[in-house]
Amino acid sequence: MRIAMIGSGYVGLVSGACFADFGHTVTCVDKDASKIEALKRGVMPIFEPGLDDLVETNVAENRLSFTTDLREGLDGAEAVFIAVGTPSRRGDGHADLSYVYAAAKEIAETHPGPLVVVTKSTVPVGTGDEVERILRETRPEGQYWVVSNPEFLREGAAIGDFKRPDRIVVGTDDPHAREVMSELYRPLSLNTPPLMFTGRRTSELIKYAANAFLAVKITFINEIADLCEAVGADVQEVARGIGSDNRIGPKFLHAGPGYGGSCFPKDTTALVKTGQDAGVPLRIVETVVAVNDQRKRGMARKVVAACGGAVRGKTIAVLGLTFKPNTDDMRDAPSLALITALQDQGARVRAYDPEGMEQAKGMLKDVDYAPHAYDCVEGADALVIVTEWDAFRALDLGRVKRLLKEPIVVDLRNIYRAEDLRKRGFTYVGVGRGK
Ligand code: UGA
Repeated sequence: MRIAMIGSGYVGLVSGACFADFGHTVTCVDKDASKIEALKRGVMPIFEPGLDDLVETNVAENRLSFTTDLREGLDGAEAVFIAVGTPSRRGDGHADLSYVYAAAKEIAETHPGPLVVVTKSTVPVGTGDEVERILRETRPEGQYWVVSNPEFLREGAAIGDFKRPDRIVVGTDDPHAREVMSELYRPLSLNTPPLMFTGRRTSELIKYAANAFLAVKITFINEIADLCEAVGADVQEVARGIGSDNRIGPKFLHAGPGYGGSCFPKDTTALVKTGQDAGVPLRIVETVVAVNDQRKRGMARKVVAACGGAVRGKTIAVLGLTFKPNTDDMRDAPSLALITALQDQGARVRAYDPEGMEQAKGMLKDVDYAPHAYDCVEGADALVIVTEWDAFRALDLGRVKRLLKEPIVVDLRNIYRAEDLRKRGFTYVGVGRGK
């Protein structure tokens, strides 16, 4: 099957490359000529494990190509995916849908159909109706079916998530559109649960409800972690104890510095707005948004306390800047709020991240960047681990201790065992480890 993918960002590129790998012929279209040129040369605009190889193989097999020209992309296509960005609109927190609507208009201006138009971008309930209206208004005689097909990819694990999904949600009531979507995902149907067909609005809401629920789960365990610290309990054991109940499940119960990234913060805020607009305030999600924002800023207090109550004039080594490992994405990363708060209190910050430093440079001021973890630690008054990159899980602790001016470790991801570090003479502070 031949398809076009509009938007060669994170979602579009991963989905396009994976569909090509299934055997479909995919053209990725993007307005950004420099991005398309780079992709043609095999240079990825994002860091995602395995993506460059997947792209290279499928380009070599002539199943995957890149263009800035939508007409070329839509030539012979049976379906077109809209996978453009939906950032938070400045000021009101609503999702900014201008790129989605512009893509819909351009599709109708370029192609009369028949064409299945699939929204993969995360869009608020009712966006599919508006996309359909724009298509009809732009080309009344055109033949289009508008489908919602949200993605559930995690950065850093996106290819695996695409190829081994828990479910594929397809929002359309139309039999032809359902058939086209089934055919597209057919290579998966042998070893994964079948597609889940729903109405379009339901599908749009599933995406937000899933991300909001996961954000609730993380925020819940983060609050329990605070309680553990106050009452002398261990949050990791609490998480194991509750997570082994099938109804709760063990995933997304890792306490930490608060969730970040390009999805949870934006999607929870947008869902809150949708609830308010519909006259159904989502109080749990509203609270989660507020609690998580406070938490990210509040992590600095933990560091200050570990440093004896003040960080003025001290050098704090920060390992990990990205919002999670295996990505270069710095959007809404907890490190941003933490570092700014430490600087406000007079600390000097030296940081190292395997992939995120280039992006961080544009977002943080007055940070010294170290070429390696050990250079970062050298001579610092304390070490703070903010992101759980594998490279930080097995540091040479003897070396770290020798390099640090003060042997203080604040481990915001609980990647070390408190006893191990304390035995070696470190002052160790984790999250939710009150014992
Ligand atoms: C998330 C969802 O997991 C995907 O299913 C969804 O498709 C995606 O958003 C999206 O909407 O595009 P992602 O933002 O890549 O994926 O990352 P996650 O692995 O979900 O992590 C999000 C944040 O939560 C990170 O800051 C992470 O450190 C934090 N987190 C996660 C915790 O603090 N504790 C946990 O137990 C799990």
